[in-house]
Amino acid sequence: MTAQKTELQELPADLKRELLPKHVAVICDGNGRWAKRQGIPRFLGHQRGVDALKDLLRCCDDWGIGALTAYAFSTENWGRPQEEVDFLMTLFGRVLRQELREMIEENIQIKFVGNLTALPKSLQAEISRSMEETKGNRGIRFTVATNYGGRQEILHACHVIAQQVQQGLLQPDEIDETTFERHLYTAGICDPDLLIRTSGEMRLSNFLLWQTAYAEIYITETLWPDFNRSEFHHALCAYQQRERRFGKVPHISPES
Ligand code: FPP
Repeated sequence: MTAQKTELQELPADLKRELLPKHVAVICDGNGRWAKRQGIPRFLGHQRGVDALKDLLRCCDDWGIGALTAYAFSTENWGRPQEEVDFLMTLFGRVLRQELREMIEENIQIKFVGNLTALPKSLQAEISRSMEETKGNRGIRFTVATNYGGRQEILHACHVIAQQVQQGLLQPDEIDETTFERHLYTAGICDPDLLIRTSGEMRLSNFLLWQTAYAEIYITETLWPDFNRSEFHHALCAYQQRERRFGKVPHISPES
């Protein structure tokens, strides 16, 4: 990955290593608005968005965070102007071609999740190649949600499970959370601890609906292309202040 490695390569002293999230998920929002503010075409915002994502991936790796998942293209994004959709598909393919060698060298394991069969064939080929060539890597797990929708993912899992029940391979009362998760696109990847959304929008937008059940949510007004290490540092500081209770009560001392 050729993103610039600048300041903050070491874990900042005010962050506790043992309280870092194991998995960070990001909704990379605001590329278009960023471009508009600069007075440049929207597509340049997406290009800068890719640079920001590359730097975040490297930062997670530097700081010892084991998994990063990014929302690159939702099932709803097909409704954008055709030129923008075409640009994004071409951009994703180009990024994969340009970055694959370095991802292999840096021990990154890349995975794409979503309905990939609807993507252009050439992009599907780049995706398969990148997943195949990095599948043995044991460094950071980088998941890119492309033509992804959380509801569609849940329905997909339901269909597979229903077929297994129909074929007598599974009993209805055997369907529990573990069985269900095995059929999500993200099977084998731990749930995100921290979900970051840029550009101030306060929505999940159909992203990782099952997996974010207990994620801490951090929303920043910063537009995605400006989301740098320093911004990520702020997000992690906020995360480390949170008390994660998973629906239980906080620890209360007997005298309180
Ligand atoms: C949302 O901004 C951003 C996108 C639809 C594209 C996000 C894609 C990346 C960051 C790159 C993915 C990288 C790989 C490795 C394939 P927006 O256009 O909705 O911005 P706006 O809300 O300001 O219009």
